[in-house]
Amino acid sequence: NEKTSTARAHTNIALMKYWGKKDAALNLPTTSSLSLTLKEFYTDTMVTEGREDTLLINNLMQDPTRVHKFLDFLRAEKGDFPPLTVVSKNVVPTSAGLASSASSFAALTAAVAHYNDWDLSLEELSRLARRGSGSATRSFFPGFAVWHEGHDDQSSFAESLPESTMPIALVVCEVAKTTKKVSSSDGMQRAMTSPDYEAWVAKSHEQFDVMQAALAANDLETVGAIAEENALAMHALNMSATDRRFTYFSQMTIDIIAFVKELRKQGFLAYATIDAGPNVKIITRQDQAEEIKEKALASFRKLKVEIATPGPGLSYIEEN
Ligand code: DP6
Repeated sequence: NEKTSTARAHTNIALMKYWGKKDAALNLPTTSSLSLTLKEFYTDTMVTEGREDTLLINNLMQDPTRVHKFLDFLRAEKGDFPPLTVVSKNVVPTSAGLASSASSFAALTAAVAHYNDWDLSLEELSRLARRGSGSATRSFFPGFAVWHEGHDDQSSFAESLPESTMPIALVVCEVAKTTKKVSSSDGMQRAMTSPDYEAWVAKSHEQFDVMQAALAANDLETVGAIAEENALAMHALNMSATDRRFTYFSQMTIDIIAFVKELRKQGFLAYATIDAGPNVKIITRQDQAEEIKEKALASFRKLKVEIATPGPGLSYIEEN
């Protein structure tokens, strides 16, 4: 009977973005970031002993280079373990457009820790997962989470914010990919060459306090407004980079941003946030999400739309 270990981590979407590294080797970010974990999208990762480190995602063999590098980091950091077969399943309602490195590296870190009987706190798991992918730090926690930028390896990890009853929903608009994609690591490195980069970091520090106060006060309007401002300014950095400026926006991304503005004119609570791709997540209230979804579907051909709501933290799945 082969020993296996399976962990589930949910995707998170940043309302205040991580977009730049002050230490690339340790994966320390230039700003703290703040996210919402989503109920509807998650990754289940099972590990078991194999002949070499291998990776299967949704039953397809993948290039294991990045995972192998991360497993070697864990071996060096926490103690040796055998080669692993990593079997990952991304649960996303439609296409694979939302499968993320955040839920994947969080689930992998937890599965490996469990497999090796390492008794680690969520904080420690978060610190370790950071070395696989920064956004993974936040995927261990339910609801809203903060990744503290920190100043060294020990101090850079995420934690949950106090439980919130905020009726937030994201209307996730999946735009078909057209442009060649730039990885987050490469994209943020280029963004840091923008003459506006330092100002974005300074602004982010200010926005952080306002955002946390708004969360505590259940002020979703302010949460959305800051999230949109923070995200659009992040994308402006990509466009103003002096090293190979670029954009993740497609025409439809821009059209949906205008649609969101129009929704606000009609009295909806609606703000846009965008990550390293053309998809737009519309931040809104749960009681307005369905109507916004219908309007989006009516306005844009070929758009896939899903509603996402606050989700749970890490869990382990028992084998039978
Ligand atoms: C735009 O976590 O993918 O989604 O640490 O290099 O793996 P690496 O980057 P990654 O970057 C995520 C960037 C973002 C914003 C965010 O999630 O905070």
